[in-house]
Amino acid sequence: MAGRIVLFGATGYTGDLTARALVGRGARPVLAARTEARVRVLADELGGLEWAVADVERPESVRALVERGDVLVSTVGPFTRWGQPAVQAAVAAGAHYLDSTGEGAFIREVFERHGAGAQAAGCGLLTAFGYDWVPGNLAGALALRDAGEAATRVEIGYFNPGSGSDAMSGGTRASSASVMLSPGFAWHGGRLVDERPARHTRSFELKPGRSARAVSLPTSEHFALPRIHPTLRDVDVFLGWFGPASEPMRVLSAGLEPILKLPGARDGLQGLFGRLVKGSSGGPDAEARAKSRSIVLAEAFDAAGTKLAAVRLEGGNAYDFTGAVLAWGAQTAATGGLQGTGALGPVDGFGLEALERGCAEAGIARTT
Ligand SMILES: NC(=O)c1ccc[n+]([C@@H]2O[C@H](COP(=O)([O-])OP(=O)(O)OC[C@H]3O[C@@H](n4cnc5c(N)ncnc54)[C@H](OP(=O)(O)O)[C@@H]3O)[C@@H](O)[C@H]2O)c1
Repeated sequence: MAGRIVLFGATGYTGDLTARALVGRGARPVLAARTEARVRVLADELGGLEWAVADVERPESVRALVERGDVLVSTVGPFTRWGQPAVQAAVAAGAHYLDSTGEGAFIREVFERHGAGAQAAGCGLLTAFGYDWVPGNLAGALALRDAGEAATRVEIGYFNPGSGSDAMSGGTRASSASVMLSPGFAWHGGRLVDERPARHTRSFELKPGRSARAVSLPTSEHFALPRIHPTLRDVDVFLGWFGPASEPMRVLSAGLEPILKLPGARDGLQGLFGRLVKGSSGGPDAEARAKSRSIVLAEAFDAAGTKLAAVRLEGGNAYDFTGAVLAWGAQTAATGGLQGTGALGPVDGFGLEALERGCAEAGIARTT
């Protein structure tokens, strides 16, 4: 029998998209959020779904959402601030867990702190299971498979042509501020190393004669791809959302580094940005989303720096993809399609072929 799917954060921008995508796939998720009046209205609108009230400031209310065999999907972010109660509740119950984070510091916590508990509890944790960072895991895995064992380095770039100034949700803006102020990491020399966000920039060719620059960020690919390709020594992931602001971001990140080392500075700035940059303020509407596209590129190299394989994925809007791929992942996990337990990457969690199908259903597919 399929487990229940419980969606926590259903009344937020991404939660709403995910709820609709789940219902569109024929699922009947339990919708959970902190405000009863709002979650009740949404549950009624989507066909009389079950609903529940939970608040991260009352962790016991989050624990009460799930039991063994359920799938908990959380879109309550920024995750470095509000993410712990949901992942802890899933591990305590033995429920599978997916989230929409893109924040490296939280991803690292899931892999390094919660993975062992989840393994013992017999459940799987799929963090960052949205546009950040599922398609890059897929593109990277396909490039590494095409390149074969000789590949020791993979570089991945995410781009969103057509995104206007209104392209980011309030939640993404709040989480981006948190990412820039948190410690980062990368996979270099065959191990995870500390590396500040936006330490490097790189340009990728989006089409003949048109290149675009992107900044390096800590992502789930750094944890997940070395597991499926043991000869991998270097993983770098770049985000092109910021376009020409990529280079100023690199300079800003270098300037911030000594300041963030001062006692109390990191927490103080996080608190300040937490007050200034508000989440729960909505995001691009369907018309704005329809104007933007996604291009995700991966290149695999051998130890001498020769490019062995290149993969290009293309598709629609990043938020539409996030809601749809979370819905696909939750439904697949609820019906026994998850391989393994503990903290999982998208590829080791579902298998490469299933993940490629899931991403295509969610709107991003391989073009070359
Ligand atoms: N991986 C990706 O590609 C991707 C894509 C989209 C979003 N995201 C991430 O997903 C997160 C949500 O983004 P969003 O755009 O949906 O932002 P949002 O609209 O601000 O959603 C935040 C959610 O958290 C809930 N929340 C806040 N405080 C809470 C509390 N004390 N208890 C319970 N719930 C609480 C909000 O509840 P209310 O509805 O009551 O305000 C809302 O549902 C962000 O971290 C964002 O960066 C990632």
